[in-house]
Amino acid sequence: MPDTLLIKDSRTNKEYTVPITNDTIKAIDLRQIKVKDDDFGMMTYDPAFMNTASCHSKITYIDGDKGILRYRGYPIEQLAGKCTYLEVAYLLLHGELPTKSQLDDWTYNVTHHTLIHENIKKFMDGFNYDAHPMGMLVSTLAALSTFYPDSKNLFDAEARKLQIYRLIGKIPTIAAFAYRHHLGQPYVYPDNDLSYPGNFLSMLFKMTEPKYKVNPILEHALDVLFILHADHEQNCSANVMRSVGSSQADPFVSMAGAAAALYGPLHGGANEQVLRMLREIGSKDKVPEFVNKVKSGEGGRLMGFGHRIYKNYDPRAKIIKETADKVFEVTGRNPLLDIAIELERIALQDDYFVKRKLYPNVDFYSGIIYEALGFPSEVFTVLFAIPRTSGWLAQWEELLLDSDQKIARPRQVYLGYDARDFVPMEKRG
Ligand code: CMC
Repeated sequence: MPDTLLIKDSRTNKEYTVPITNDTIKAIDLRQIKVKDDDFGMMTYDPAFMNTASCHSKITYIDGDKGILRYRGYPIEQLAGKCTYLEVAYLLLHGELPTKSQLDDWTYNVTHHTLIHENIKKFMDGFNYDAHPMGMLVSTLAALSTFYPDSKNLFDAEARKLQIYRLIGKIPTIAAFAYRHHLGQPYVYPDNDLSYPGNFLSMLFKMTEPKYKVNPILEHALDVLFILHADHEQNCSANVMRSVGSSQADPFVSMAGAAAALYGPLHGGANEQVLRMLREIGSKDKVPEFVNKVKSGEGGRLMGFGHRIYKNYDPRAKIIKETADKVFEVTGRNPLLDIAIELERIALQDDYFVKRKLYPNVDFYSGIIYEALGFPSEVFTVLFAIPRTSGWLAQWEELLLDSDQKIARPRQVYLGYDARDFVPMEKRG
């Protein structure tokens, strides 16, 4: 006997039996529930998708109550401790960890798509010196679509593979060029001898020396941060990637949409806000006063705290905190860390945060490391977008190959006027 849900409609006293699969009912099965035959039928009302699964997925698993995150079944702690970001990107996109030769091939292909067309460089030159790097990134991703008309062949596996190499390969280059433009410094072209994070550091920080010398501790720390940010199932930007992708737009413009969603302060923009907040607090002894302001609603939210899914410590925040210690051995301790630790200590003892299950999320400590690595805060969200590219693309490809999926198109509960007659200008107001 399949599992079912029995629903009784008190308006009509009718009963309905709805099948349950994977602890879920299909919203469309509720449509049969009607008072009159010509009714539209029952819908669910779910602003912000608080309790709606929009897809089946095999990519990322999160148990928010237990603080568990796994990519393709592998715990994030093991991946962050043992893999490189490119291995993890391969895993997300292909479902399995690569063999040595698969990884060599993958790395070769990504590395050989890091250059961007010179016209894209000119396009980026057109931005004002103070343009926000995320604004530049979003627009440049969309502009790339005009250079690769073959990216419209969505159902050709080889064409998709090529766009994936291009996007994973080029996003660090675009991000680094946006940063250098911001500083008024000449662009640094990719160096194929370096690792993925090493090349990114070179494109950011190389000056007149013939070859950039990568610090292996910082290179590894950046790689770990990339792994932690690679995917996070149906978050706001992944949902946008799928939503734009569902109209069969090409992956460049779909990713521009996803990156725009990431830019917001409640999503990937939070890490930038955390640093602003820590600076505003200024010193450890001011933390209690700040926490009281947050609780009374005067001080805004405690940025880097709380999560729609995690009602426990975000497992990524734990790994980031450990990574911070290694980075600080090289760069010296960021004084903002003491304020952050005190803020965490006080908040985690406070009834307001305990009751609402608000814990540090991935953005709470990442900004402090980014700052120690020499990044200005405007670049932080770009650092999130680089690794999230593999997650967005894995979500996008899964969507395209899922026969259940169609163009995304939610319903609404219309509460506006009923039909009424047009009022001429002289009779209005
Ligand atoms: N500081 C103070 N109060 C908070 C916070 C916070 N950071 N987050 C949630 N609350 C309170 C909120 O006021 C509400 O209280 P009440 O029930 O009294 O009205 C309750 O907790 C539930 O909040 P919510 O807004 O219904 O929760 P949500 O699931 O819609 O929001 C969130 C999740 C991440 C948007 C939110 O926690 C937040 O704004 N956090 C700060 C921004 C942040 O750090 N964002 C990064 C998220 S992790 C990275 C990513 O996914 O991009």
